[in-house]
Amino acid sequence: MMRSNVYSSSQKALHWLLFVLVLGLYGLTFGDSLFQRGDPYRDFAWWLHISFGLLLAALVVWRVVLRLINGAPELPASMTGIERILAKTGHVALYALLIVIPILGILLTWFRGDALSFFGLFTIPAPFQPDRSTAGLIKELHGLCANGILILAGLHAGAGLWHHFVRKDDVLTRMLPASSTLTR
Ligand code: HEM
Ligand code: HEM
Repeated sequence: MMRSNVYSSSQKALHWLLFVLVLGLYGLTFGDSLFQRGDPYRDFAWWLHISFGLLLAALVVWRVVLRLINGAPELPASMTGIERILAKTGHVALYALLIVIPILGILLTWFRGDALSFFGLFTIPAPFQPDRSTAGLIKELHGLCANGILILAGLHAGAGLWHHFVRKDDVLTRMLPASSTLTR
């Protein structure tokens, strides 16, 4: 794997775009509490959830490929061993959730017997028979992982701010738009 001392501008753009998508997808699930059963807005919220969810899935693939090509900057030398382990484990877990959540979402859609629709541009029908009880289990897991990524991202954001305001190192700024010349 190549090592670079900065995140490329695509890596940074993807980081923040995925952040917005994760929050937005989570927000869309509140459609269930806002609208009554049978209200078309409720179905529309899930239609958007699946469409934007597929967009997220594609961007995650792109992000992982870039990570494998570009690598990531070294952590500051001032960080202790335990801090490095926490940072790296946290990042691996965030990547894992970014990959697992869409997979569960896609399986959930299919096990319920629905076709995946990407903003009405194309649909992918279920390649297997629907199964209600499996769908119920996957929904639980999908929801648990969604809560997990929010909690982890909250801790992760806290760590980023702590680096900036307490440690005063470059960890936060290197994920911000201005600081890169690597465009790939
Ligand atoms: C990071 C991205 C995502 C987040 C944060 C997220 C979050 C959630 C949450 C919190 C729920 C409610 C779970 C519950 O009620 O127990 C949910 C349900 C669901 N999600 Fe996602 N999701 C994401 C991505 C996806 C993707 C990629 C798909 C499919 C392509 C998808 C399909 C679904 C479906 C079909 C449901 C159940 C809808 C229903 O109950 O009627 N999700 N999601
Ligand atoms: C859903 C929300 C988020 C997810 C899934 C996420 C995910 C990730 C991942 C996987 C990395 C590791 C990058 C790599 O090594 O390739 C990373 C880095 C980073 N994230 Fe986030 N992030 C989220 C939100 C935030 C927020 C709100 C902040 C604001 C403080 C933030 C600040 C950073 C910083 C500063 C880095 C660079 C860390 C370093 O260079 O070692 N992230 N993020």
